Order: sequence, then structure tokens, then C-alpha cells
Amino acid sequence: MKHLLSIDDLSVDDINTLFETAGEMHDVQSRQVKKLPALRGRTVINLFFEDSTRTRSSFEIAGKWLSADTINITGKGSSTSKGESLRDTVLTVCAMGVDALVMRHSASGAARQVSQWVDASVINAGDGTHEHPTQALLDAYTLQRRLGSLEGRHVAVVGDLTHSRVFRSNIQCLTKLGAEVTVVAPPTLMPSGVEAWSKSAGFATSYDLDEVLGGGSGGPDAVMMLRVQRERMSGAFFPSAREYTVGYGLTRERLGKLKPDTPICHPGPMNRGLEIAPEAADAAASAVLDQVSAGVAVRMSVLYHLLAGEEAA
Ligand code: NCD
Repeated sequence: MKHLLSIDDLSVDDINTLFETAGEMHDVQSRQVKKLPALRGRTVINLFFEDSTRTRSSFEIAGKWLSADTINITGKGSSTSKGESLRDTVLTVCAMGVDALVMRHSASGAARQVSQWVDASVINAGDGTHEHPTQALLDAYTLQRRLGSLEGRHVAVVGDLTHSRVFRSNIQCLTKLGAEVTVVAPPTLMPSGVEAWSKSAGFATSYDLDEVLGGGSGGPDAVMMLRVQRERMSGAFFPSAREYTVGYGLTRERLGKLKPDTPICHPGPMNRGLEIAPEAADAAASAVLDQVSAGVAVRMSVLYHLLAGEEAA
């Protein structure tokens, strides 16, 4: 495996191998000395043209714990703000001798395009509304640690699906691992063409969150809430924040319908009070912070397999 651009590029075996290594990497997190020599002498550049807290720092920490030299470049402070093209920026950065380029960009397909220009391994850390493969991997890894195998488990993915690259990667990852997925959104935030897509990819769609959450034992085995991505909205997708919450928020009342140990996921950043109530975000069964710590382990695993995997095998 040279690049990680899409979940589509991974087989079930690849995903399981990544999870196995992530499990070993996870143990490093609880050690006092969090350092493995695996990527000593390697250089990883985080090239982020969009804002990020957890993904960027998680890749940076993952690289550092594997002893790689990790450098961050953001769009705002780089020469792209002086008008340099994406191609010139990545060729410039890679001319310095880079082994891996972790890239986030607002254009769907940007990471794949860059992978055709450079010799370095390219990891897609989010491309527009298209994909965010390491987020889906860490989500599935987190759920597997909670639920065991995802085969036949029912996962509800709820929220702003239209603008969500997390959803697009998660659909592929969860269904590959055998989960039954129902996606829930208001009609205005349900991606166009979802009917045909859901049939071919094998997931269900719903506009009724209460029905999907059901009550008692009939509810989903896990709930994944997605952020309302206001920065990607050019018009009004729902009448008011209040109406969105009433129809599609994981409110205190809806939390009460879930089995108490149902993992509640959110990739972050959360709009507390809009798509998720504080009671749900902070519930005992919330997996939100587990997702963050799993993120480092999964990204260590990805970097390791892309940069050292073949030598090590
Ligand atoms: C997601 C992203 O950037 O796509 N966040 C993340 O990586 N943790 C989801 C989001 O921004 O809502």
C-alpha cells in the first residue's frame, strides 16, 4: 500500500491488519515514554489547507511517537496565500525529501490528484465533501473495541450527510466490516442520488430519527452523530437551529430511548445543543474521546504500514 486516499482502496484484510497494528500502537499511549523507533529518519509533512484541531495534531503526534520528523504547513501561512498553485506547493515541499504527505484540502479529489504528482506516500486527511478515510478507520476501530465484531451490528449515522466526507468514508468502512447502516437526515441534507447509491452500497435511509432510534432493545447498536457543517452551506438547509434539533438532534429525550451502553460517536468538532445535547456528548456511553485517542493509534498504524510496513513484514 503506497497511499491512503479512500476506504475503497482497502480490502477487509487490509482494514483488519491496520486495526491489529493500531491495537499494538494503542498500548504505547499509556506508557510514560511514548516513543517507538519505527520511522526514525523519515519525514512526514502535514499539509492542511482547511482548519483542523484533532486530525492534524493526531497525525503529528502519531508521527512523533513513531520517531518520524513531522512538520506542519497550513494554507494560511504558506505561499498558496500568495497565489502559488497546489501543484507548485506540493512539488516544492516534496523536493525537500518527504516520505509522506498528509493532506487536507477543500477540493474533493485533491489528495488523489496530488498522489499523481509526487513520489511521497499521500494520506487523505479530508478532501472537500468526498472522503476522510482515517476518520472512518478510527470510528470503526473504536466501535469494534466497544462492540466486538461489527458483523450484523446496526449503526445509525445521523446528521448533515450532504456535506460530510466522514459519512462517505464511514459508509464504505462500516459496510465492508459487515455492519448494517441506516443513515438519517432531513430531506435537504440527504445527498442527491442516495436512493440508487444506498441500494448498490447496501445501506438504509430514513428521515425519521425517532423511528430509527426506536425504543429499548430495538434500537441501534451504535449512533454516530455528524456535525452540521455551516461553513459548507451556501443557502438555508433548515428553517432554524431549533427545528433541526427537534427533528434530528440527539437530545436528552432521545438519549433516554437508547440502551444505556449504546456508544455515541461524533467525529468532532461538536455543535453542542444543535446536533448533540451535552447530556449525550458527556454520557457514560459517549465514545467521543475514545475516538480521539483511537485516532492517534490508527494514524500510527497507517503511517507505519505506508512507510515501513513492507520492510517490517
Ligand atoms: C471532520 C472533518 O473535518 O471532516 N472532523 C474531523 O476530522 N474530526 C468532521 C467535521 O468537521 O464535522
